[in-house]
Amino acid sequence: MVQPTTLGEFIVENQRDFPFATGELSQLLTSIRLAAKVVNREINKAGLADILGAMGSENVQGEAQQKLDIMANDTFMRALRSMGQVCGVASEEEEHFVAFDDDIHSDARYVVLMDPLDGSSNIDVNVSVGTIFSIYRRTTPAESAVELKDFLQPGDAQIAAGYVVYGSSTMLVYTTGNGVNGFTLDPSIGVFCLSHPDMQIPQDGKIYSVNEGNYVHFPEGVKRYIKYCQEFDKATNRPYTSRYIGSLVSDFHRNLIKGGVYLYPTGTMAPKGKLRLLYECNPLAFIVEQAGGMATDGTRRIMEIAPDELHQRVPCFIGSPRMVETAHAFLRKYEN
Ligand code: AHG
Ligand code: MN
Ligand code: MN
Repeated sequence: MVQPTTLGEFIVENQRDFPFATGELSQLLTSIRLAAKVVNREINKAGLADILGAMGSENVQGEAQQKLDIMANDTFMRALRSMGQVCGVASEEEEHFVAFDDDIHSDARYVVLMDPLDGSSNIDVNVSVGTIFSIYRRTTPAESAVELKDFLQPGDAQIAAGYVVYGSSTMLVYTTGNGVNGFTLDPSIGVFCLSHPDMQIPQDGKIYSVNEGNYVHFPEGVKRYIKYCQEFDKATNRPYTSRYIGSLVSDFHRNLIKGGVYLYPTGTMAPKGKLRLLYECNPLAFIVEQAGGMATDGTRRIMEIAPDELHQRVPCFIGSPRMVETAHAFLRKYEN
């Protein structure tokens, strides 16, 4: 039997492609893959242990925190803190960034931003959830205190980004700017194996993913685009199929493989959109562009947006480039 390439081997083999090939990023990715396995184990037994349900607390954005949100946040924080490459982490579950300012981190050069558990409102009903992460070089000098501006960098400055989908199988997908590769966890040996080398998103697709419950609140251009997706037209293969899990990582992962577009526009209920620029949109934008796709806020590339605050929200149109472009055409035509 041919031995599959493991994630550990892949990281080491591809280290030389990385512009600052010192091995630090490889070690950082090692911390992430270990934390992903721990979170996967906890999620898998979620129905057995008393770890389902709400925590009774809210995060800084006023959203109910699930027990597993806290578990995933703590697990990734601990794993990242245990090694010396990271000087600070910003998390969707924490109001402020967390500075790692003890001795072993004194010359750490990276910051990590993460959504430790994405789609967590789905966890009680056994629907796939995920983790999203984004890695930058700090902009302030090593050996000084990490600052907010180290975290408020545009997505184009990302060094690496990835996600884990805890699904019917668990996968870790990441990029360091040299394409996108996906690894499936073999639970019998506890190892991620290369299963999806050089992932490419189809240029066009048949799936649109949006929370249509918000339809009446969407801008006119989005409403018209949704109607366009639903109309019959043999030449353009319509109507399209609507698929919406409500777990961004799962919806994104499906569309990356099958071709499709995911929309989270503005609307009266979410005047700036719902998705978070730093923890959700930028990392997935980096991945989709590396796979040949597009990610915008309706006009601008997501990764060009200069962030003003950690928990900033943006509208997001992400997926197969022809579908994103068609959505743009509707937005331009029905600007309001
Ligand atoms: P999180 O669980 O990290 O707060 O993210 C939830 C996000 C995302 O996963 C999903 O696509 C979106 O919220 C769904 O929002 P709606 O329920 O408004 O459709
Ligand atoms: Mn999320
Ligand atoms: Mn989350």
